[in-house]
Amino acid sequence: MTRNSYYFDYEVYTEIGELTEADAWLLTKARDVTKNAYAPYSNFHVGAAARLFTGDILTGTNQENASYPVGLCAERVLLASISSLYPNARVDTIALSYNSKLVESDHPITPCGICRQSLQEYEDRVKQPIRLILGGMEGKIIIIPKSAMLLPLSFSSGDMSRP
Ligand code: THU
Repeated sequence: MTRNSYYFDYEVYTEIGELTEADAWLLTKARDVTKNAYAPYSNFHVGAAARLFTGDILTGTNQENASYPVGLCAERVLLASISSLYPNARVDTIALSYNSKLVESDHPITPCGICRQSLQEYEDRVKQPIRLILGGMEGKIIIIPKSAMLLPLSFSSGDMSRP
């Protein structure tokens, strides 16, 4: 028997003023677009903003449905837009924020399991790690250097093909 371990380093900031100008701008964009979420069932409005290596900025928001499982998270709406509008574009950074009447938006949220899988697929496909800036409308922010770090021991396309 061997025992393995998994850990990763990420950055923690007290508030948006500590970020670089470009990162603060992208997080502000993610905060702004929370108003475009369609979230009448959860009242949890999520905004995502991506900066491509070309400098293009795209945004996405969660889109819910009366048939709850049909709903889509902001991250996957954003990735689908990027892939549709700019196929194979390399994504530098995605910022994520949220707003809700029900909870204080004063701490970061992290992508759900399905979105982690989708982010990993996109990273693998274009061979470019995606940085994540995670923060609420105020308060603490965390920056994760590669989104795949959030999905250890993952299943990926490589598991289905011969080397
Ligand atoms: N949601 C996102 O859009 N992104 C996340 O990272 C977490 C959850 C959405 C899904 C659903 O519309 C609502 O937030 C509550 O789960």
